[in-house]
Amino acid sequence: MTPFTYNDQGLCAESVPLAEIAEQVGTPVYVYSQSAIEAAYDRFANALTAELGAERTLVCYAMKANSNVGVLAALAARGAGADIVSEGELLRALAAGIPASRIVYPGVGKTRQEIATALQAGIHQFNAESLPELEQIDAVAREMGVRAPVALRINPNVDARTHHKITTGRAEDKFGIDADALPEVTERLRQLDAIQLTGLAVHIGSQVTEEEPFRQAYTRMAELYRWLQDEGWPVSRIDLGGGLGIVYRNEPAPDVEGYARLVRETVAETTDAQLTFEPGRHLVGNAGVLVTRTLYLKQGRVRPILVVDAAMNDLIRPALYEAWHDLKPVAREGREDELVQMDVVGPVCESADTFARARPLPPLKAGDLVAFFSAGAYGAVMASGYNSRLPVPEVMVQGDQFAIVRRRPTFQEVLSTEQVPGWLGRPADVEAADATEDTRKTG
Ligand code: LLP
Repeated sequence: MTPFTYNDQGLCAESVPLAEIAEQVGTPVYVYSQSAIEAAYDRFANALTAELGAERTLVCYAMKANSNVGVLAALAARGAGADIVSEGELLRALAAGIPASRIVYPGVGKTRQEIATALQAGIHQFNAESLPELEQIDAVAREMGVRAPVALRINPNVDARTHHKITTGRAEDKFGIDADALPEVTERLRQLDAIQLTGLAVHIGSQVTEEEPFRQAYTRMAELYRWLQDEGWPVSRIDLGGGLGIVYRNEPAPDVEGYARLVRETVAETTDAQLTFEPGRHLVGNAGVLVTRTLYLKQGRVRPILVVDAAMNDLIRPALYEAWHDLKPVAREGREDELVQMDVVGPVCESADTFARARPLPPLKAGDLVAFFSAGAYGAVMASGYNSRLPVPEVMVQGDQFAIVRRRPTFQEVLSTEQVPGWLGRPADVEAADATEDTRKTG
């Protein structure tokens, strides 16, 4: 289901014309469909509970994909937990109403402070990624007089066959504890009394579109879980991570029901573990677009170049991963017979700021709106202020209503966190000093 369809007012998000949002909020602007997020969550959660039972299933949305509080609140209302990777994400999740008891915390570099804050909040579980991290969690928990629930994130040495920058489960990747080191790590755990070992965790990568890598990794997790039980550890959980992909272009459509079946076969039938999932992209990716306005149509030497007001700092996926995002005019759908190949670029001063090359598009002119599709995941959250561009506002739509869920800050707000070092004086003094300097040179 796509929530973005055309009617006589052009491309709409649910029932709201994107042109109306662009008019009122300005461009570029991210627009999310609440119904699409809810539908994706329901389908994912229902498929799993149908195969595994509700008592055995915990869905923790990987909020790194899109951590806007509006999006989080919609998922919280559905009963979703959260997968967090920083103190900032913890605070957002709690602010959006996700209970700490449904929060899992993976990540290779948790600080002491982050560990303390998460313990204080009473999160469901840390997914620890190394022995030094386990020692740190133990030390912090001991100081606080509590026991930390911890699963061991395993690196299963499985290639998820996705883009190399988002593959996480190969032996050479920085993530997880080498499966072969498990005996050594559990031996050491016997001395770490402030850690309560809950089970195992794994995450092999993102935008995974084949079943086989999941099958390999999950089968391995079930084996290791049973080994832990044989060793006498009272474990009860396996966190199977996220990674289920979406269709950007022509990838095989990920089959949620097939994934749920695979989980039942590999892990549910072969262990007694409670199962946690960390889907990110799959829940929000296709629920968002980035709406941008054409600034110029430039005649390049090779082909026309469409210059839009969104840039790589707003949506970095094409520059960083050579990612392909569908692109559609907002006014009306293009017809096959009128398509012209164009490059689509942003205003940032480097060639990496290119969204698409030789993309067939209908005629477009300055002022026309276009929408980048599949921008709901890893879009707004990965934005930067490069070239002193302001953060893009975010809008959420439900039916025929929309709300700004993150406004565009003013330049003054952004500048207010910076200051000239004292030894350079205040800007006024600098100006005065420059003036004196100039007089001296010319005088
Ligand atoms: N769990 C862990 C431990 C993760 O590291 C990630 C993603 C997820 C779950 C969620 O994965 P998902 O279901 O969204 O595939 N910026 C990249 C994606 C980076 C993914 C990082 N980790 C992109 O734009 O493609």
